[in-house]
Amino acid sequence: MVTQPREIRWGFVGTGGIAEEFVAGLASLDGAILQAVASRDPRNAAQFAKKHRFLSHYDSAADLFACPSIDVVYISSPTVSHREHAHLALRNGKAVLCEKPFAPSCDELRKIRDDARSRDLFCMEAMRLRFNPLVVECRRIVQEGILGPVQAISVEMGYMKPPEPHARERAKGAMHRFGCYALSFVHFLLGSPARLAADVTFDEEGADLSAAIQLFYPNCIARLLVTMRGRTSNEATIVGPLGSVLLKAPFLDPQHMRVDVVGGAQESSRCLKAAPRAGLRGEAVETIRCLQAGLLESPSMSLADSLAIQNLLDAVLATKDNGPTA
Ligand SMILES: NC(=O)c1ccc[n+]([C@@H]2O[C@H](COP(=O)([O-])OP(=O)(O)OC[C@H]3O[C@@H](n4cnc5c(N)ncnc54)[C@H](OP(=O)(O)O)[C@@H]3O)[C@@H](O)[C@H]2O)c1
Repeated sequence: MVTQPREIRWGFVGTGGIAEEFVAGLASLDGAILQAVASRDPRNAAQFAKKHRFLSHYDSAADLFACPSIDVVYISSPTVSHREHAHLALRNGKAVLCEKPFAPSCDELRKIRDDARSRDLFCMEAMRLRFNPLVVECRRIVQEGILGPVQAISVEMGYMKPPEPHARERAKGAMHRFGCYALSFVHFLLGSPARLAADVTFDEEGADLSAAIQLFYPNCIARLLVTMRGRTSNEATIVGPLGSVLLKAPFLDPQHMRVDVVGGAQESSRCLKAAPRAGLRGEAVETIRCLQAGLLESPSMSLADSLAIQNLLDAVLATKDNGPTA
């Protein structure tokens, strides 16, 4: 007799923009039960639950964490609340899928990792790009040497965001909002760099507005441009002696990728496509797969990966942490 994999019961903390996007993909998956949602506003909790057919709703995150019928909590509260919500979820015996960036600093992320490990609970940062099939294919192309040894990577990630008071304390600068995707992308392809150099501009409150980052690898330079002061191309390009890959906007969850291989009989040009929000759906599929298989971390987005990326992010923000630029 074939046994069905167990169903995974989801709880949501946060009902904002990304929760709306994430739930759309999750709801269609086999093995996913939308168990409960929590909002600070009871009417909002009831509305979100009704709209997306959650079985129940709560007026506080604390009540949701105490609910015994939940296996995993999807945390999409503001970045400064991730730490508190992740610890509470874990201490109530729940697995965690937490929106990017997982924590405002490496120190806080280590505490979450230790909490998850000491309780044998699954824990993962919701980094959608690592679960997009085009990004996964791009990594395969790089790792199999189809471009030859990669020489250069260029990533742009920027949107216009209004200045916010206390953006620094709320981890709402350009690096936490956007830079983590660019760093995670390059780290996914090549791992941690040998060296990092960065220039950062800050506003008068000390929140980072833009960053130009270079990551140095043996024989390869990755150049990252990150800003919250305007829209960039939001594309990523990878170049080697035998060809190039272009991930079109938004490279963080792309729908289009072009692969050009040059030279002799191997010469080819391919355009590949993915469904909208394929990465967002993919991270839900991966969470369910890991929980059903009894894994405590995803091999595609481990806590060591999150820490390595947070370490780079902290290093970028430490490069020029001395107030406004002239
Ligand atoms: N993966 C992605 O592509 C992606 C995209 C955008 C954002 N994100 C990340 O996801 C997180 C949420 O982003 P978002 O754009 O969805 O934000 P948002 O629209 O502001 O939603 C955040 C939600 O968190 C809840 N919340 C809980 N405690 C809160 C507090 N103290 N203050 C304000 N809200 C609180 C609110 O829901 P209630 O009012 O119902 O309590 C709010 O709707 C951020 O960490 C962000 O970096 C990821």
